[in-house]
Amino acid sequence: MSILRCPVCSTDLSRTERSYACSNNHSFDIARQGYVNLLLSSQRASRSPGDSAEMIADRRAFLEAGFYDPLRARIIACLNELQTALERPQRILDLGCGEGYYTAAFADPARAVYALDISKPALAIAARRNTAITWCVGTSKALPFHDASLDVVLNIFCRPHARETQRVLQPNGRLLLVGPGPGHLNALREVLYEQVNDDESHTLAQLQAEGFTLTHSEPLSITLELSGAAIGHLARMTPHYWRAPAAGRAKLDELLMLPVQAEFVLHELSIA
Ligand SMILES: C[S@@+](CC[C@H](N)C(=O)[O-])C[C@H]1O[C@@H](n2cnc3c(N)ncnc32)[C@H](O)[C@@H]1O
Ligand SMILES: [Zn+2]
Repeated sequence: MSILRCPVCSTDLSRTERSYACSNNHSFDIARQGYVNLLLSSQRASRSPGDSAEMIADRRAFLEAGFYDPLRARIIACLNELQTALERPQRILDLGCGEGYYTAAFADPARAVYALDISKPALAIAARRNTAITWCVGTSKALPFHDASLDVVLNIFCRPHARETQRVLQPNGRLLLVGPGPGHLNALREVLYEQVNDDESHTLAQLQAEGFTLTHSEPLSITLELSGAAIGHLARMTPHYWRAPAAGRAKLDELLMLPVQAEFVLHELSIA
């Protein structure tokens, strides 16, 4: 049995050269860039859900400049620690994988790596990074994976759906949740908004209320000295720029230098 299941009828999906198909003849073509679209039109709230091509291009430019390399290294270290408890290849889903900067870095022959995002433009450039990864367009709310088929679900700046994540994780599996810590990008937000609100802290409490147990937590802080184009790349890869008033965006567009702290928190949660 494969790990993927058909989004229409939930039976096994197997791969042929150019498509994935189930025994009930539901078939999903592999795009020329290398991803498969498993998002049904009934699962889309808009014609082009998820991050736009523009946000994805800015995120690619920012991440490729190396500013978040320490975060990527820490995530890989966490995955390696979880791998030591297993006596077989680790099965990982990178949920909300974006343009694949983190995903491609932990793909190795000792792992089965799946990456899913609701944004087609994200997958179109992510899938070119590594053909050994299974890249899918899909939604966190209805994952195209069998029950208990994954060892790790990794959510980096993407809100998980508690019930679906619990369903696809094996009993000893872990949700690895990476998100903003207190004060994340405050200096950037102070330029964009008149008043800065912390709005992310409820994600962990909500997951705990929905049956997850916190097994490990750690903060990570990166000092960034941004100048030139990197300021705009960072601003436009976050929702903040797009939500900010025109006056805030104009101030940001004129900045030449921006010292800013990136504050992250990594949480490991079990489903038991
Ligand atoms: C802030 S980005 C993070 C991307 C990547 N993890 C990173 O840190 O570079 C959030 C991503 O989640 C995706 N996304 C939003 N809603 C989603 C959903 N319901 N299912 C899957 N992906 C979703 C967006 O398209 C976007 O690529
Ligand atoms: Zn089917």
